[in-house]
This record gives sequence, structure tokens and C-alpha cells, in this order.
Amino acid sequence: MSNIGSYEERLPGFDWAIAKETLGWQDGELLNIGHMATDRICAQGKAEKTALIWEGFGDAKKTYTFDDMRVITNGYARFLQEVGVQPGDRVCIFMDKSPSLYQSFLGTLKMGAVAQPLFSAFGDDSLEVRLASAGTRAIVTTQKHVKKVRKIQERLPELKHVIVVEGNPAKLREGELFFDVEAAPRVENFESYKTDENSPSVLHYTSGTTGQPKGAQHAHGSVWGQALTSSWVLDLQDDDVYWCTADPGWVTGTSYGIIGPWVLGVTQCVLDVGFTSARWYKFLQDNKVTIWYSAPTAIRSLMRDGTDLVKQYDLKHLRNLCSVGEPLNAEAVVWSEEAFGRPFLDTFWQTETGAMMITNYPGMKVKPGSMGKPFPGIEAAVLDLKTHVPHTEPGKVGLIAFRPGWPAMFRTYRGQEDVYRSKFFGADENEKPEELRKNTNLWYVSGDRASIDADGYYWFVGRDDDVINTGGHLVGPFEIESALIEHEAIAEAAVVGKPDKVNMEVVKAFVTLNPGFDFDDMMELSVMNFIRKSLSPLAMPQEIEVMEKLPKTRSGKILRRYLKALEWGEDVGDLSTLEDD
Ligand code: WT7
Repeated sequence: MSNIGSYEERLPGFDWAIAKETLGWQDGELLNIGHMATDRICAQGKAEKTALIWEGFGDAKKTYTFDDMRVITNGYARFLQEVGVQPGDRVCIFMDKSPSLYQSFLGTLKMGAVAQPLFSAFGDDSLEVRLASAGTRAIVTTQKHVKKVRKIQERLPELKHVIVVEGNPAKLREGELFFDVEAAPRVENFESYKTDENSPSVLHYTSGTTGQPKGAQHAHGSVWGQALTSSWVLDLQDDDVYWCTADPGWVTGTSYGIIGPWVLGVTQCVLDVGFTSARWYKFLQDNKVTIWYSAPTAIRSLMRDGTDLVKQYDLKHLRNLCSVGEPLNAEAVVWSEEAFGRPFLDTFWQTETGAMMITNYPGMKVKPGSMGKPFPGIEAAVLDLKTHVPHTEPGKVGLIAFRPGWPAMFRTYRGQEDVYRSKFFGADENEKPEELRKNTNLWYVSGDRASIDADGYYWFVGRDDDVINTGGHLVGPFEIESALIEHEAIAEAAVVGKPDKVNMEVVKAFVTLNPGFDFDDMMELSVMNFIRKSLSPLAMPQEIEVMEKLPKTRSGKILRRYLKALEWGEDVGDLSTLEDD
């Protein structure tokens, strides 16, 4: 059935069982994402179909059929098993977007372990916090990135195996394992571990306002949500060539850069080089990409390079464009219609939701600047900011909330059930995560603000917390502040988002200095580099402002909101709670 214009028809009587029908799923089949994305597709007669087209620097290009993926993921699964990794253990995947990333991810799931992908630009501090929190048992990485693991390994007693899958085996240290899946004996058959819908699958770390990043734990049952949204929103069809520009270190890159498209047996492309508009257009053209899932920052960057550049490429194959991660401004939607002949469809969701929640649909009228409407089966609302009761007044701002229980919903924050519980308004303090997830009297609160218009379209307003969204990536102020004060010159730090034309927000730090330190250009550079290396380029402050003292409440809490309001030129509000001496 065509997806064009079918949104309204699909609302009444919607049932998630439709996802199973879409995949031709029979009860009793093995519910394991690794198996479903490879073996199951091969068994449908698509063994020789291209699964992955990968391009890297220079002319590097590789393609893999679904059968190649099946055998290679078998190889990874068997290797992890032989090393001693057990089902349920966390296996961190830490590398650039090379084919090995995708293959080791699926191999991990096949043998029942939990895949914990981390962005390869993370520095050693970012890595350490997330590996320690997850109690990670094994890390699969490359020679290029293993150095960061070496720096922190001795502080991670639970990390038993460092597995290097690309590079020069002669350069490894004692205790590190080298594994070249393509040179290893071919593993023709591997029986995937019998996971079920509640078995843990993927662990993604995401930032909050307070504390260090939290591990959103997903389960294999997420596949129903990811598959159906891939089909109905991305509009993936059997003969499509699909490109998701996200890195699997972030949830878009796994839910829609691995799981959704491959369980549908769709060909995916991956471009593992840095961004330039020309390179992206060439990639779209050369691979005859039909479906493209990207992000507002990238779209704004393309826009800056103009429509003339677009017209130099043959992009006639493009059929559907979607966007996620930050507000997609109306100008970008209008521009994409001019440049590509079709609008980018905005989709709204989160690491925690695992799949799209509020989105635009093929054929549904696009109101540029709106996120669209809730996916069928998703009960969404906007809650009053104070009373937390849903309201329906058009245009009135409230908190975006969802009734729990959709298939791709995260199952807990690893080791932080209380924080998980705090995301549900009305929860009882004894309710366990599995009860919260099924309690449809509660609301899961996203942490974002929006309004709904008279036609039921959602309009994003902003976050309800201090988390910074830079280029579609969330960075937690606490993590950056903690790192800043490790620098010898810095006494105290407060980090906020600062408006930016392309990235929406960039990181700005306010700091006070330790006695005896001067803040000149050299010092500023030193602090920036310190954060870039220990955390990541995303977390690096683009601006550092030295203050005599930081604004605080009487109880000594730094007032980030005050600094943010100053930065955004907003009313700074009631200052009476500020320290007065
Ligand atoms: C946060 C979630 C979901 C994949 C990527 C990000 C913001 C996400 C939109 C959108 C405005 C958006 C929200 C949300 N966000 N999509 N279409 N319009 N804001 O996952 O890292 O968990 O970030 O990104 O603030 O809560 P994430």
C-alpha cells in the first residue's frame, strides 16, 4: 500500500501488530534484531541484494550483499562468544563509520550481548564515564582509536577485552586482541541467541541537565516501532537506496541507520568522510539515493552553499527527504522545495523514545516549521507547564508528553531507576520500570516544550531544561563544567547554549579563574583544546568568558538560566534569589 496521503486512514483501529504484518512476521519466529537484519532477509530470497554501499576518503568504496552481512556478522558473533562475552554483557562499538561498525554492531546483537555504540570523536573522559557506567565488558575499536582506550583501561576493571578490528596487528599491546573478520574462517552458520522483545539490545548514552550522561537501555522489541516508522514515514520500499547521514554513536544512526532499514531489507549507503556540500551531492548522485534522512544543521549548511551548486548534480532519484534532531526552521523547508523539488519532512523523537513520535508524513500537508502529528498508536499531549494536565488550547505552550508503552520505548536508564521514574508524571515511588512502561495512566515527559495548533500540528518551542543542542547533538552542561574545572586555570564554570546560525546552539562557558592565572588567547586555546580532547569537538566551548564571580542562588547553585537568558538577550527575570554579597 502506498504511504502517500494515508495518515488519516491509518489512525482508526491502529494496532502495533501491523508492524509484524509489514515484515511478514509469523509468531514463533526469532525476535533478534541481528538475525532479522541479515539471516531473515536472506531467507526471503534477498541474499544477493546489496545491503551496504560504503564510501570513505579518496575513492574508497565497498559494497556488501545481505549474504555478506549475514556471514560477516556471524563471524563477529562467533568471535565474541569465543572470547567469553556472555549474553547481556555490554559490548562497546567505538570506531568511525566503517563497515566494521555496522557489522560488529549486528554481530553483538546476534550473540545476545548489548551493543553500546559510542561516537568515535569522543575523548578519553567521555569514553570513560560511559564505559564505567555501563560496566562494559568488551570494546570493539580500531587502531586509530585504541589509544584513548589505553589511557583509561586500568580504571575500568570490568573491561576485560579490547578488540581491534582495523589497523596493524603488530602495533597492538599485550592483552589486546586483533580480529580481521574477512580474513578469519568464514562462519557459514550461526544460531542467533534467543532474545525476546524484552531482552536488552542497544544502550545509548544521552545527556541530561544534571549529573553525567545516562544510559538509555533499549530492547529487541523496539524493532516493531523502528520498522513501521521506517516504512510509513521514511517511505522505504524494496527498490529504494537509502542514506541516513547520522553516526550510529547517536540513536538516529542505529534506529534508522541500521535497524529499521535493514529489517525491511532495504539498501543503505554510508559516507564516512567529513561534510562538504559538494561531496554530499556527489554521493547522492552517484548512488542514486532515493530516500535521505538528515538533520537541520546539515540542511542549513547546504543552504549556505546555495541552490546553484545543487543544480550541478543529478538528484532526480530523490523521492523522500526527512530531518531530525533539532528544530527544522521554515526557511530550510522552503529552500529544500526550491533546491530538491520537495520539502524535508521534520520528525521529532529522542534517544529515549527509540523511534519517531511526532512527524510529517508523505503526502500530508506540510506546514513549514511544524513537526507534524503523532504517529498512529502514539498518544501524545501537551501538558500545562504548572498543573501537568493536558490542554488543548491552540497555540498554548506546554510540555510534550506521551502515554507509555510504545514498542521502541527505552526500558530504563541503566542503574538509575529513580531517574527513569522521574520522567513519568504521576508515578508511584515504588513502581518498577517494567510497571511504569505499561502504566497508561501516566505520562512520559520528554523535556521539550511545544504547542499544538487548531489542525493538530505540533510546533516545537524549546527544551524545558539546560541541555544544549548543538548541530542536533545533545551535550550536557554538567559534563562540560566538570571537565572545565579539571583545567588548572579554572576555579568554577557554568556552561550554556549560545545561539548560532548554523548549529542552532554552540557551547559557551563562563568561568572564574584560580589565583595567579591570566586569561589570554593562549589560555583560551588551551582550555578549548583541553575540552575537545578530553570530551569531544561538540562539547568544546566556542567562547569562554571570564567573570569575577558566577551568579548563584543563596544556596550556592550556579544560575545557568540567568546566564543563558543574558546570552539570548531575554528578560533575565527575578534576580531576588541571587546572592547579594
Ligand atoms: C532531543 C532529543 C531523535 C534523534 C536525534 C536526537 C531535540 C529532536 C527534534 C525536532 C526540534 C528536536 C529535542 C529532543 N529534537 N528532534 N524535530 N525538532 N527538536 O536524539 O539526542 O536524544 O535528542 O533533540 O530537544 O528532546 P537525542
